[in-house]
Amino acid sequence: MILNNYETTYVPLTYSEIKPYLNTNSIGRNYLYFETIGSTNVYCKALALEDKPHGTIVVSERQTAGQGTKGRSWISPMGKGIWFSLLLRPDMTATDLGKITQIASAALVSMFEDFDINARIKWPNDIIVDDKKICGILTEAKLKGNSIDHIVLGIGINVNLNNDDFGSELGCIATSMQKSRNATFNRGEVLSTFLNYFETYYEEFLSNSSNSYFQIYKDRSYILNKKVNLIKNNAPTLVIPIDILSDGALLVKKQDESIEKIYSGEVSLRLAD
Ligand code: BTN
Repeated sequence: MILNNYETTYVPLTYSEIKPYLNTNSIGRNYLYFETIGSTNVYCKALALEDKPHGTIVVSERQTAGQGTKGRSWISPMGKGIWFSLLLRPDMTATDLGKITQIASAALVSMFEDFDINARIKWPNDIIVDDKKICGILTEAKLKGNSIDHIVLGIGINVNLNNDDFGSELGCIATSMQKSRNATFNRGEVLSTFLNYFETYYEEFLSNSSNSYFQIYKDRSYILNKKVNLIKNNAPTLVIPIDILSDGALLVKKQDESIEKIYSGEVSLRLAD
């Protein structure tokens, strides 16, 4: 246990904390641990250029400049969550990039289920529990022509954060495993459970033996067949998402019954009342 200036007690999330639960071959085996870092994604992107192996993981107890999607920041208090980035070197084309985020999302909901937490995926990659965000994914890639040189998969899991960690504004839209279950979780077990699922779904996909991740990704959707506001350039349109395609696109039915294919990036979704 560490009691430090942040008045937080935690068991440091070092390799020895995850090793007893880890069943993977490569994912998470080259383990780099920090107490404080700017952003694990930024650090991992630099490591990728140094030829670090596939599966390398960067974990930090705290980030001072955690990055979210769309240029947002990601709060990453000391010892409370799991803030990490995985370096992947898959042999795949750039068009398959969205599948890595789908695989990660499926592995996350499977992991939450093992801890009796019912999580849903809000397309494209927000993980939702009790109608609030519990986890975020930031996938960044370096391309080499039409193929992928490497991917940095950054994930933040709100594990033992409480109301004080979120503050009132964030508390309305974000949650944690602790808030959802009213219990404190062993972060080593949580992280290795995710890594085990991730490697299984990832290997299955790359070896073409199964796409079980995709069924989970669709089955656990938070928005399919519900009325949502699709917001593009600040303008909302009421639509019903009816399917998700394996290339990551969302099929939505508009009010005039026409069907449109939406790609993430410029749009955001809100459940309509
Ligand atoms: C989102 O906005 O939903 C994505 C959040 C991703 C946060 C994680 S925390 C670990 C990794 N390092 C970062 O700087 N960001 C990601």
